[in-house]
Formats: sequence, C-alpha cells, structure tokens
Amino acid sequence: MDKVLKYAHRLLEEVVTSNDICLDMTLGCGKDTLFLKDICKKVYAFDIQEEAIKKSKELMKDCKNVEFILDGHENVLLHINEKVKGIIFNLGYLPGGNKKITTHFETTIKALKDSLTLLSDKGICVICLYPGHLEGNKESIEVTKYVKGLNQKEFTVLKYEFINQINNPPFLIAIEKNENVSSSKL
Ligand SMILES: C[S@@+](CC[C@H](N)C(=O)[O-])C[C@H]1O[C@@H](n2cnc3c(N)ncnc32)[C@H](O)[C@@H]1O
Repeated sequence: MDKVLKYAHRLLEEVVTSNDICLDMTLGCGKDTLFLKDICKKVYAFDIQEEAIKKSKELMKDCKNVEFILDGHENVLLHINEKVKGIIFNLGYLPGGNKKITTHFETTIKALKDSLTLLSDKGICVICLYPGHLEGNKESIEVTKYVKGLNQKEFTVLKYEFINQINNPPFLIAIEKNENVSSSKL
C-alpha cells in the first residue's frame, strides 16, 4: 500500500494533465512542487518562509513553469484568479526546520475554503495531515470537521488512513469536485 504522500501524488497524477494549473499550498523543501511541475502546465507554490522559497528556487532554477509566492496560503485569492485542477496541502512544519513555524487550523481552513472555489470540475485537492504533534492534532480534528460538512452534491471527500499504526500516524484527505453541479441543485 502507498504511504500517505505517495497516494496523494497518485490521486493528483490520475486527473492532472499537461494543460492544467496546480497549487502547492505549502512549498517547504519543494518536493511536491517538483512532482507537480512535471505533470502540469504551471504550478503556483506558496510558503511564508523566505528560506523555503529560496531553497526551492535553487532546486528548480531552470524550471519555467513554477511561480513561487512568499505569502500565506490563506491569501490565495489575492494571487490566483484562474481555475486549477490539482491542489496539495502538506501540513505541519518543515522537517529539519523550525517546528514553531507550522500551519494552523484557522488559516488552513480559510485557505482550503478559498482554494476549493478555484477547483475545476473533476479537479482534486489533497491534504496530508500530521496529528502526531500538538498543533497538527488540533488541525487534523478541525480540518476533518470542516470537510465532513462539505456538500456531497458538490464534493466527494475521501479519508485514507492506516488504522492499526501507533502514535497518531499521518493521514490523507482528498476532495474531488463533482462534475457540473448547478447551484440551484445544491
Ligand atoms: C510540511 S512542510 C511542507 C513540505 C513540502 N510540501 C515539501 O515537499 O517539502 C509545511 C510548510 O508549510 C509552510 N507554511 C506554514 N504556514 C503557512 C501558510 N499560512 N501559508 C503557506 N505556507 C505555510 C511552512 O513554512 C512549511 O514550509
């Protein structure tokens, strides 16, 4: 069975084409952007840490289809005004970095809510959650609560979780935008 992040990439790979736009909402070391840039037309990648942007720019210096955005993902609608086919949130703190600089549920949920308005039909948003640390635990609970409330006529929501592992292992939430739902039917 695929680990959480691998499965997230597989889900994205199944729907994203070379004509599509994707969002990496938590750039970090750039591994998810590195993956996305090869399967789509353009990636917009957000991070609040200058260091993350700098290192990732270095990693992808010859790459022309990535735009790095030094801003919180909660401001996504200030930067993006086009439809996107794939979105990834890899939450928590940067492994090997400052653990105090982590994602927080309030801003994560705002970012999620806003970015879902940009998702095109059959597009997918994947969220890797890490309940093994305090803030991550709170975030996992609140994000799960939020996605459970999404209208099933508009979105299909999946939870991928290893249920016999100890110490609160990471899990994945995937949200697919259903095809052609007119707002009058919701
Ligand atoms: C777990 S890391 C992401 C790992 C990354 N996707 C990779 O492949 O290396 C989480 C990242 O989210 C960033 N972050 C925290 N709060 C954020 C926010 N409000 N908006 C955007 N990025 C944020 C952190 O700076 C950190 O780099």
